[in-house]
Amino acid sequence: MSIIIPILPAAATLQPEGAAAGSAAADGAARKLNIRVLRFDPRRPEVAPHWQTYVLDDAAGMTLFIALSEIRERLDPSLQFDFVCRAGICGSCAMLVNGRPALACRTLTKNLESSFTLAPLPVFELIGDLSVNTGKWMRGMSERLQTWVHQQESNPDLTRLEARMEPELAEQIYELDRCIECGCCVSACGTARMREDFVGAVGLNKIARFRLDPRDTRSDDDFYEIVGDDEGVFGCMSLLGCHDVCPKQLPLQTQIAFVRRKMVAMGWK
Ligand code: FES
Repeated sequence: MSIIIPILPAAATLQPEGAAAGSAAADGAARKLNIRVLRFDPRRPEVAPHWQTYVLDDAAGMTLFIALSEIRERLDPSLQFDFVCRAGICGSCAMLVNGRPALACRTLTKNLESSFTLAPLPVFELIGDLSVNTGKWMRGMSERLQTWVHQQESNPDLTRLEARMEPELAEQIYELDRCIECGCCVSACGTARMREDFVGAVGLNKIARFRLDPRDTRSDDDFYEIVGDDEGVFGCMSLLGCHDVCPKQLPLQTQIAFVRRKMVAMGWK
């Protein structure tokens, strides 16, 4: 979601209007937030990337999403950032908070120092300011890894009842399906920063998920064909960045290690 309006002068410092100060005072939170945002619009390459500082009153329960919305509504409508759900579900609002990937809607300002920086996620195509095109990257990864259930029947019987699944197995699949494709793991990954085609923890997590699914008729050989190289599971350097920053606390490193062991075994066949 982007608004295209001329960018304000670099390093401008803006004071909020009285309404925000009033709400903060009512909550007893009087400290000022100095929010430094890295700004750049690729459609205006003549304006170099620069930091812009906004000053806001902190408030009880304020998230970065609320702070950014307040900036955009009352101080600077040209600021670009993404959000949809505001509840840690859609994955749209991921950004670097003090250099670390996180969801803006799940980050409380009270857990940050009064001065902090916000920057767009690296690796992904920049749309503008804090907005990046994770969808394009995820779509490319998904098509490459074919992240859907594969069945060999050419004419499946659509009237057939769904196959039963053991609750424990369904639970394991559900656990891996909790990924919201926010891109935090990709941005925190050393390999993804160096190797453009690396599928990242999000991709390997999907392979682990479909490998578990008994409805998917692909064999381990098939999965090896897809991720058994340096752009797949052997590109991972086990730095654990993905595991550390995943906002859904998915067991990413465990899954990558498991898939790698399976793929090594396949390669030795
Ligand atoms: S707005 Fe959906 S995850 Fe933050």
